[in-house]
Amino acid sequence: PPHTGVFQELTTSDCRFFNSTDRVKFVERFIYNQEQYANFDSDVGHFVGYTSFGEKFARYWNNLPDSMEVTRAQVDGLCRHNYEVFRPFLMER
Ligand SMILES: *[C@@H]1O[C@H](CO)[C@@H](O)[C@H](O)[C@H]1NC(C)=O
Repeated sequence: PPHTGVFQELTTSDCRFFNSTDRVKFVERFIYNQEQYANFDSDVGHFVGYTSFGEKFARYWNNLPDSMEVTRAQVDGLCRHNYEVFRPFLMER
């Protein structure tokens, strides 16, 4: 709650698979005290801010080309990679 000095900062990363790895979507969410202030959606290709802080956050990260390249590569480097790593445990039992 506000004014308690206790807060929660939460970041989630989702990989969504459609028809195995035929179509893959990577979504990263940035949440402060249960309010999502920014996200990255691989279908959109850049960070989007939902609050005034989120807009600054998005502008900052969108202007770091090296970092954006890594983030945009997550559909392959993280999602498709992990799909192959976890497939034997999740799909072939
Ligand atoms: C599913 O993926 C396969 C292999 O990439 C593709 O040939 C097929 O058309 C896809 N099916 C659908 C429903 O998109």
